[in-house]
Formats: sequence, C-alpha cells, structure tokens
Amino acid sequence: MKILVVCLGNICRSPIAEGLMRQMAIEHQLDWTVDSAGTNGYHTGEPPHRDSQSICRQNGIDISKQRSRRFTARDFDDYDHILVMAEDVYQEVKRIARKPADMDKVSYFLEPLYPNQQAAVPDPWYGPASGYKPVFDLIQKAGILLVSQLIQTSGNISNRTNSIKK
Ligand code: 4NP
Repeated sequence: MKILVVCLGNICRSPIAEGLMRQMAIEHQLDWTVDSAGTNGYHTGEPPHRDSQSICRQNGIDISKQRSRRFTARDFDDYDHILVMAEDVYQEVKRIARKPADMDKVSYFLEPLYPNQQAAVPDPWYGPASGYKPVFDLIQKAGILLVSQLIQTSGNISNRTNSIKK
C-alpha cells in the first residue's frame, strides 16, 4: 500500500505525519510506502522545519532526510491513499485532479478522529515553537486510528512483510 500525506508547504505538518506513519508501519511489519508532499511548492528541496524535526527527534523519529516536494497529478497514479491536512489543501488537490475517480483516493487525515467534519490539523508555521507539540500529538492520535483502519480495509495479511517473506 502506498500512502501520501499532503499539506501546504511540506515542511511542517506532513513531514511529521510521514515520519510517524512510516514508523507505525514498520512497527506493524507492514510493507507500506509512506511519503509526503505540499501543494504550494514554496519550500521545494528543503528539509522539514527545525521545530518539526525537533519534536520528532524528541519522540525517537528522524525526519531530517526528508525533502519538500510539490504535489503533482502523477501522485494520483502513484499512491493508493492521499491524506490531506486541511480544507485548503483538499481544494487544491481537487483542482489538480484530472477526473472524479482521482478524488476517490483523497480523504482528510483527521477523518478517523473527527468523522465527516473536514477537520484541519492546525498549521504551526504561523505560530510559536510551542505549537509543534500539540500538532505532533494530534497527528499521532489520528495516525494510530488511520493505520488500524487501513490495515482493516486492506482486507487481509497480504501486505504484511512477514507473510510475503515466509
Ligand atoms: P505546512 O506549513 O503546510 O504544514 O508545511 C506551511 C509551511 C510554509 C508555508 C505554509 C504552510 N508557506 O507558505 O511558506
């Protein structure tokens, strides 16, 4: 299964989600690909924001090797699930979609936590460094639910690295 998390700049929220979701997939021995992208491209090629790196490091996750990249229409072909951080990101992804079926892959990252509310992960970019911990905690809480839902919807254990290797 291939999962892409999308925010605006791909330097604050989605890199945290990528790091957390990848770690959870490894812990569950799931052969998943987890990536992230941003809709605005302002920070292409840059590593995650220092405060995103710092809160992840404090929680044992190294996201320093990630580099920001812009979301493109090809991502609809390359990923099974596209998880957006907020309404503005959803609208931009929708604008880039080539056909209605592209949007079948798109859902809100917080959907499992706040169903049918189109809830947003607050953007810490505009606030103080203290804003990164609550954002990390929220992404972690939703990420745990997301991973368990995705395991269920993937239907069986064929995605588990163990069963493939055995
Ligand atoms: P992110 O935060 O979408 O969580 O990466 C932002 C980072 C940079 C900008 C906007 C949001 N920016 O406009 O530069």
